[in-house]
Amino acid sequence: MSKDRLRFYLYATPALLAAALVVALIVPHDENTAQPARDFGGANAVVRNDLHGQNMAILPIPVAEVSRPLSGQAQLGEKIFHDPNLSADRQVSCASCHILAHGGDDGFKLSTGVGGAIGDVNAPTVFNSVYGFRQFWDGRAADLNEQVSGPLTNPVEMASSWDIAVLRIKENAAYVADFAREYKGEISARTISDALVRFESTLLTPNAPFDRHLNGDDSAINEDIREGYRRFTEYGCISCHQGINVGGNFFQKFGVVGDYFADRGNSTKADLGRFNVTGDEADRNVFKVPTLRNIAVTAPYFHDGSAETLDAAVTIMGRYQLGRDLSAEDRRYIIAFLESLTGEYRGERLQP
Ligand code: HEC
Ligand code: HEC
Repeated sequence: MSKDRLRFYLYATPALLAAALVVALIVPHDENTAQPARDFGGANAVVRNDLHGQNMAILPIPVAEVSRPLSGQAQLGEKIFHDPNLSADRQVSCASCHILAHGGDDGFKLSTGVGGAIGDVNAPTVFNSVYGFRQFWDGRAADLNEQVSGPLTNPVEMASSWDIAVLRIKENAAYVADFAREYKGEISARTISDALVRFESTLLTPNAPFDRHLNGDDSAINEDIREGYRRFTEYGCISCHQGINVGGNFFQKFGVVGDYFADRGNSTKADLGRFNVTGDEADRNVFKVPTLRNIAVTAPYFHDGSAETLDAAVTIMGRYQLGRDLSAEDRRYIIAFLESLTGEYRGERLQP
C-alpha cells in the first residue's frame, strides 16, 4: 500500500464508517416513496464525527505530496500517457480523453476513441483518481493498476492490446533507454502500467479555496461558499459526497428517491452500473459516487453525460437522491461551494 493510500485510509475511515451508518439508514426504505429530506440529513452525524474537533467530513489534499519532484518512473509514465502510438491507429492517447490542461476529462457528453467510435459513458476526470476506492463508474477495476488495461484494449477507446503496446514502445529508441534506466530493460504490461500509475498518482490538485479554508486560511472562502457548504451538509449531499475526494469512497444507487432512468427514458446497458459487474439485483443502477473535486470544470455531468450544467446536475441530485426540490437560491449557494473545490495542477488553477 502506498503512503498516499495508507494516509487516505487512516483519515477517511472515521468519515467512511459514519457514512456507512447513514447509508444503512437510507437503504431499507422503499426506494419509490419520496422520503422527507431529513432521512438523509443524517449527514450531520458525519460532520460531528470528526477528527481533532474540526469538521473533517471533507479532507484537504495534502500539499506536501504534490511538491515533490516526479520520479524517473513517473516521468516515463507521463510520456506514455501523452503518446498516441500505443493506440491501434496511433491517433488516440490517454490525454486525448483526459486533458490535463482542462479538468482531466474531455468535455464531451461521451468520448470518441479510435476511428471515431463513441463510448457509452462520460469520461471522468483522472485528477485525484488515485484516491478513488475503485475505478470506473461501475467500480469494475479495483485500482489504477487494474484500470489501465481497460482503455488500452477497449475497442471504443484505444482499440489496442498489450502486445501492440509493447511492440510500439520497443520500436522507439528513447523509450528503450528509458526502460533500461527505470525498469532494468523490462518492457512489459507490468512495467508500462506501473509507469502510468506512478504518473497518475501525481495527478493531484491541491490548494482549492475550500482546502485552503480547511487548512486554516479564513480568507480563502466567502459567505456564499460557507452558506453553500452549510446547505450541502444539512440537506445530506455530504452523506454520499465526502472524504478526501468529496466522493469516490463507496457505491450508491442513482435514483434513491424516484426512478431517474424511467424519467430520462432510453435506458442503456451502461445505466445498469454495478449490476453489469455483479449481476446482483441490489446493484441495479448503482454507481461509484463520483468525486466533486474540480466539478465546476468537468461538464457535462453524470455517467450518461446528460446534465450540461452544474445547475442541472444539482437539481437532479436534489430530486432523485434526496427527494428535495432545491430552490434557485439553494442551487446558487451549493454551486458557489462546488466552485470552491477547483484546485491547481502544477501551480495553475484548472480551467474548463
Ligand atoms: C476514448 C477516450 C478515452 C481514452 C483514450 C482513455 N480514457 Fe480513461 N476513461 C474514459 C472513459 C469514458 C472512462 C469511464 C469508463 C467507465 O467508467 O466505464 C474512463 C475512465 C478512466 C479512469 C477511471 C476514473 C474514475 O474515476 O473511475 C482512469 C483512471 C482513466 N480513465 C485513465 C486512463 C488512462 C491511463 C488512459 C490511457 C491508457 C485512458 N484513461 C484512456 C475515456 C478514455
Ligand atoms: C445517496 C447518495 C447521493 C446523494 C445524497 C447525493 N449524490 Fe450526487 N451523486 C451520487 C451518485 C451515485 C452520482 C453518480 C450518478 C451517475 O452519473 O450515475 C452522483 C453525481 C453527482 C454529480 C455529477 C458528478 C459527475 O462527475 O458527473 C454532482 C454534481 C453531484 N452528484 C452533486 C450532488 C449534490 C449537490 C448533492 C446534494 C444536493 C448530491 N450530489 C447528493 C450520489 C449522491
